[in-house]
Amino acid sequence: NKGTYKHYMQKEIHEQPESLTTTLRGRLLRGGSWKAKTVLLGGLKDHLKTIRRSRRIVFIGCGTSYNAALAARPIMEELSGVPVTMEIASDLLDRQGLIYREDTVVFVSQSGETADTLLALEYALENGALCVGITNTVGSVIARNTHCGVHINAGCEIGVASTKAYTSQIAVMAMLALAIGADTISKQERREAIIDGLFDLPNKIREVLKLDQEMKDLAKLLIAEQSLLVFGRGYNYATALEGALKVKEVALMHSEGILAGEMKHGPLALVDENLPIVVIATRDACFRLVWFLRNYVILLLSTAWHRHLLISNSKQQSVIQQLRARKGRLIVMCSKGDAASVCPGGGCRVIEVPQVEDCLQPVVNIVPFQLLAYHLTVLRGYNVDQPRNLAKSVTTQ
Ligand code: UD1
Ligand code: M6R
Repeated sequence: NKGTYKHYMQKEIHEQPESLTTTLRGRLLRGGSWKAKTVLLGGLKDHLKTIRRSRRIVFIGCGTSYNAALAARPIMEELSGVPVTMEIASDLLDRQGLIYREDTVVFVSQSGETADTLLALEYALENGALCVGITNTVGSVIARNTHCGVHINAGCEIGVASTKAYTSQIAVMAMLALAIGADTISKQERREAIIDGLFDLPNKIREVLKLDQEMKDLAKLLIAEQSLLVFGRGYNYATALEGALKVKEVALMHSEGILAGEMKHGPLALVDENLPIVVIATRDACFRLVWFLRNYVILLLSTAWHRHLLISNSKQQSVIQQLRARKGRLIVMCSKGDAASVCPGGGCRVIEVPQVEDCLQPVVNIVPFQLLAYHLTVLRGYNVDQPRNLAKSVTTQ
């Protein structure tokens, strides 16, 4: 039932405050003043010790589910202290890549029925790894055949383009990182900030959904374009890939997500005054403090983590400068209040989004891309919920 919406994709984009609330329900515990804030993932509590002792955590998925895992990779590495590697399911199978019995392999799948992901699961089980599922479908093959896992509880997703499952998958993987890292005392403050951020996430999504009309206006400008590039890095490399995937699969417009650090290694050659380019340059939470102080002594004294964030953000500023120097047609996504500083002198179109805890920023940042893809599709007259040639669940290889 689409209710008051015209399409399932539109409904599923707009119901993300509610789907995220259901994903988080009962899993975030905010104790009294003397009690630490913690995460409880019922399906994993007996396996956390094994996961902490693993040699690697390997994320496996396809399409949007792979992108969600990519978005969660930095926080998983930071909080777990375990190296995290990424595998597209079909590529792991093509290579017969190495999986060890000391690995924890996390299978991310909305449907829980994707053929490549299922075959990769069989392969990892044969190799003796601990197999964890992150699925939206209770009773699906992946949910049944993994040793343990977490249901994302986003509710049934009908549009072929995955939207609400993506945001819930990232939220679950952030909780997974929190649960795995729960016994590291030095990171307690960081974990509590993320838990607070998760509690507030549905509100932030409500806020970013107000960009609907702005994204429709942008879609009108882009309606006749052949191509769209999206540059992102760090937490938002995944946003670039997923934003481009949404535009490609439903609006049937060529779109490419590019790791901004790779810009000079090829993509820069494409830049001219016609090709529209979105640059994701939202701030990381810790960085704001350093930025406002603008004090290099403080920068030198700051922790390695703060320095890393500053560098990562200023790198994105330099990407913008270089694209502008080549007369690039820029659309910059930045944190609220940053429009003037990301694009001094004007000349770029700016999308301002609410700032959240850095590792949760991809959950907020994807929403304008979902809205853009939706409006572009409607304006171009294509089928939103059933893009040509695609199926919701890819059950054959
Ligand atoms: C579970 C119940 C939920 C109930 C809650 C109360 C189910 C499906 N969930 O939620 O209705 O409100 O307890 O405490 O009955 N699993 C896998 N692979 C996967 C996904 C899940 O093996 O891909 C397993 C988990 O390890 C767990 C079970 O399925 O044993 C349920 O997982 P999940 O729904 O995430 O657990 P809870 O959130 O505790
Ligand atoms: O059900 P799954 O999450 O395993 O599906 C994986 C991909 O087929 C899926 O995410 C696909 O890329 C979507 N159509 C993207 O919107």
